[in-house]
Amino acid sequence: MTSDVLAVETRPAVPEDLPAIVALQALAFSPGRFARTAYRVREGAPDLSPYCRVAVQADRLIAAVRMTEVTIGGRPGALLLGPLAVTPELAGRGYARRLVAEVLDAARARGEALVLLVGDMAYYGRLGFIRVPPGQIRLPGPVDPARLLAVEIEAGALEKFRGMVAARS
Ligand SMILES: CC(C)(COP(=O)(O)OP(=O)(O)OC[C@H]1O[C@@H](n2cnc3c(N)ncnc32)[C@H](O)[C@@H]1OP(=O)(O)O)[C@@H](O)C(=O)NCCC(=O)NCCS
Repeated sequence: MTSDVLAVETRPAVPEDLPAIVALQALAFSPGRFARTAYRVREGAPDLSPYCRVAVQADRLIAAVRMTEVTIGGRPGALLLGPLAVTPELAGRGYARRLVAEVLDAARARGEALVLLVGDMAYYGRLGFIRVPPGQIRLPGPVDPARLLAVEIEAGALEKFRGMVAARS
């Protein structure tokens, strides 16, 4: 049986998934990833939030997205998306898009207003993300303004969020 015909299921991440999530991220990202500014926000947060999701094929974790509950300028209601990683040999089959769509649905269901991330507009633009106006939202370190992206869960939410991003305590 090839990997193509094994069903892929998605579900919220549980603590037992963490070693496989970390291994997948190590495979998908370069070693410099921990120096990235978005990781500084995540350092202050629990390893998993209720929004983190994984995709599993048979018993193998093949994709994962981590989500951090944050405040922006002290205002709650925002989430920081990432890292998002798919096992390289299963890239291009829509698993990342599916996980992102599911976390956006979960965010909507729980009354969150905005999802923020640092990533490629070429990828995330197709999923509904737009550029944050330069200077409006800051992270604790340098970020290329062209890569600071957000999607409004609540219409008009973006303009309400200004200032520094921090993990929700
Ligand atoms: C980027 C990544 C998450 C995409 O996962 P995936 O499951 O392959 O994505 P999907 O199947 O939903 O979408 C694939 C499409 O996105 C495109 N794509 C992937 N990465 C892209 C990028 N950086 N910029 C533009 N397009 C990109 C693919 O070419 C493909 O296009 P097509 O549908 O026209 O063929 C995955 O390749 C990965 O883990 N990469 C390494 C880690 C990373 O860069 N994560 C994102 C930043 S947090």
